[in-house]
Amino acid sequence: MIVIKTPSEFQKWREKQSDKTIGFVPTMGYLHDGHLSLIKQAKTDNDRVVASIFVNPLQFGAGEDFTTYPRDLLRDRELAKEAGVDVLFLPDKKDMYPSPMASLIRITQGIDTLCGKNRPGHFDGVATVVMKLFQIVQPNSAYFGLKDAQQVAVIERMVKDYFVPIEIVRVPTVREADGLAKSSRNVHLTDAERRQASAIYRTLSEIKEHVMSGKETIMNLELAGKKKVEEETKSSVDYFTIRHFPSLDPVEQINEAKESELIIACAVAFSEVRLIDNIIFKL
Ligand code: PAJ
Repeated sequence: MIVIKTPSEFQKWREKQSDKTIGFVPTMGYLHDGHLSLIKQAKTDNDRVVASIFVNPLQFGAGEDFTTYPRDLLRDRELAKEAGVDVLFLPDKKDMYPSPMASLIRITQGIDTLCGKNRPGHFDGVATVVMKLFQIVQPNSAYFGLKDAQQVAVIERMVKDYFVPIEIVRVPTVREADGLAKSSRNVHLTDAERRQASAIYRTLSEIKEHVMSGKETIMNLELAGKKKVEEETKSSVDYFTIRHFPSLDPVEQINEAKESELIIACAVAFSEVRLIDNIIFKL
């Protein structure tokens, strides 16, 4: 595995790969099985796999966990190497964001809900860094986890809007044995919170069954899901929302949703960390 730290050095490597297909896995590090499944998929589909680690300050709001976001570069290097990453790209802040910043991608659709609603500017920060990384890496395909479903929707739309010639590959969520979605942030749960956190996926699955049976209104199911997660995690739920995917438009009538995909998404604020999860399905 080659480790590259600057965009110019990366571009030199990239120029020599013109006859190879490149799969790209952008991450913020503290790698876990979720990241590794993206790398595995990228390896299956491509001649070369590039992964990046960059904790992107632009996507964290004031008071969010940028400074405490877990980091362990030595371990990440080992895991990336074992997983078969060909190039690990580790840009630094001054290369990614020369100051003053002169341009920014602004997301205008699909952010009035879920995380977009409570994290203003978050998806502008995600889209801006992903666009920069895409321009440097120039992959054939890029791999994103459905755990961050709104992120997938935003990136797919951006790629379409800007005619970016990169295939976006959606990868299913990898979970712990009790259903909790793997996340770098899970290390910041207390023991009690870790046990309670399994209620998130359990409740998403239960509410999905109710949506499928079509007997309750969407609004009642959103309220019931929120109440249940709140009771079982003893934490406050930012949202428990049912929408169309990937448009994230509201679902007026369950019947209207036949054929399209729906998402049930939830965010929970634990004492030190906010976790998100979702289920995507067809009726
Ligand atoms: P990060 O949270 O490190 O996630 C990197 C990629 O791993 C994302 O595509 C995310 O959806 C995926 N991922 C995380 N947990 C997963 C799980 N349990 N199962 C499957 N995939 C999972 O998402 C980001 O970083 C950043 O926003 C980034 C795109 C790198 C831009 O800064």
